[in-house]
Amino acid sequence: MTAYTDLLARLPAEPKTWLITGVAGFIGCNLLETLLRLDQNVVGLDNFATGHRHNLHQIRDAVTPEQWARFRFIEGDIRVQNDCHEACAGVDYVLHQAALGSVPRSLEDPITTNGANIDGFLNMLVAARDAKVARFVYAASSSTYGDHPGLPKVEDVIGKPLSPYAVTKLVNEQYADVFARAYGFRTIGLRYFNIFGAHQDPEGAYAAVVPKWTSAMIHNEPVFINGDGETSRDFCYIANTVQANLLAATATHPDAANQVYNVAVGDRTTLNDLFEAIRSILEPRFPHLKGYQPVYRDFRAGDVRHSLADIGKARRLLGYEPSHRIREGLVEAMDWYVNDLGGEK
Ligand SMILES: NC(=O)c1ccc[n+]([C@@H]2O[C@H](COP(=O)([O-])OP(=O)(O)OC[C@H]3O[C@@H](n4cnc5c(N)ncnc54)[C@H](O)[C@@H]3O)[C@@H](O)[C@H]2O)c1
Repeated sequence: MTAYTDLLARLPAEPKTWLITGVAGFIGCNLLETLLRLDQNVVGLDNFATGHRHNLHQIRDAVTPEQWARFRFIEGDIRVQNDCHEACAGVDYVLHQAALGSVPRSLEDPITTNGANIDGFLNMLVAARDAKVARFVYAASSSTYGDHPGLPKVEDVIGKPLSPYAVTKLVNEQYADVFARAYGFRTIGLRYFNIFGAHQDPEGAYAAVVPKWTSAMIHNEPVFINGDGETSRDFCYIANTVQANLLAATATHPDAANQVYNVAVGDRTTLNDLFEAIRSILEPRFPHLKGYQPVYRDFRAGDVRHSLADIGKARRLLGYEPSHRIREGLVEAMDWYVNDLGGEK
């Protein structure tokens, strides 16, 4: 039995109250679904900056009415201190996901990204500390590795940030560390590598690559690869990310808290490989994809060339063991992609 299967077996008998910020977003609503299926009590906070009501509606339809009744949603903003205090009241664990993602968004509008990702983060830390939550787990980012060329990435060797977004995620880690030292508050930062799966938004200029390309292929539109396609990433399926959050919140290893962890698989996939994987999985349902080719264009500013995680620390201290490699995740998510991205655009 892995640490996670053990946790999944134990949790329903020991319901806790969890706060998920960014609950209407991609990662947040997946966390919500898993926790409700485990009969947990969940508070959700979101201002719909990039998240969607339809994500919440889809989770409502996926769980039982009794499970849905254990969810309380607060429409609010992490930049507003009162909203953070209201959300943290009576909570055992915080899973803080709310932020403005995307490197290009932060390059175009660093002030708005800073407001959500640094001011909002600090508001949440203070509110969670004041509410005496047992643990504050937050979404950090692989962008913190910045210009450091070493591979695979290990948690204590980072470079200089390459974007305003990366600065905000680095500052999050620094604030969390200071709150541990100054107030004895217990936090865990999860440095997500490229996460993908159901409910990830394919629309807009800042969409992530997997849903954007999948949607384009389904609709027989061009897929653009920035650069030569040999840029590589450690793509991580959402089920692994959910696992890491639940393990981080509940980890009992004496050295587990007040740390940051890579959340990835430990596999390196180039954009060319990713293109072919999605194309080949979709082709049986969409015959127009036979012989389909990407369109190459310039590299994008602020992007790192290669990214690959060492996940040994999460394995050791959290008991994390990824359940899905990239192809398994793409296959599992494909029905959602086809049903949700396949309609009229
Ligand atoms: N998806 C990835 O590959 C990835 C990689 C690294 C880090 N992350 C981090 O993971 C977290 C979740 O990302 P995601 O992919 O689910 O993105 P998402 O955009 O789908 O979700 C973010 C959610 O936060 C909400 N939000 C934004 N600003 C807010 C505010 N001021 N007040 C309240 N809610 C607010 C949005 O409305 C949205 O629902 C973010 O912190 C992101 O930086 C994601």
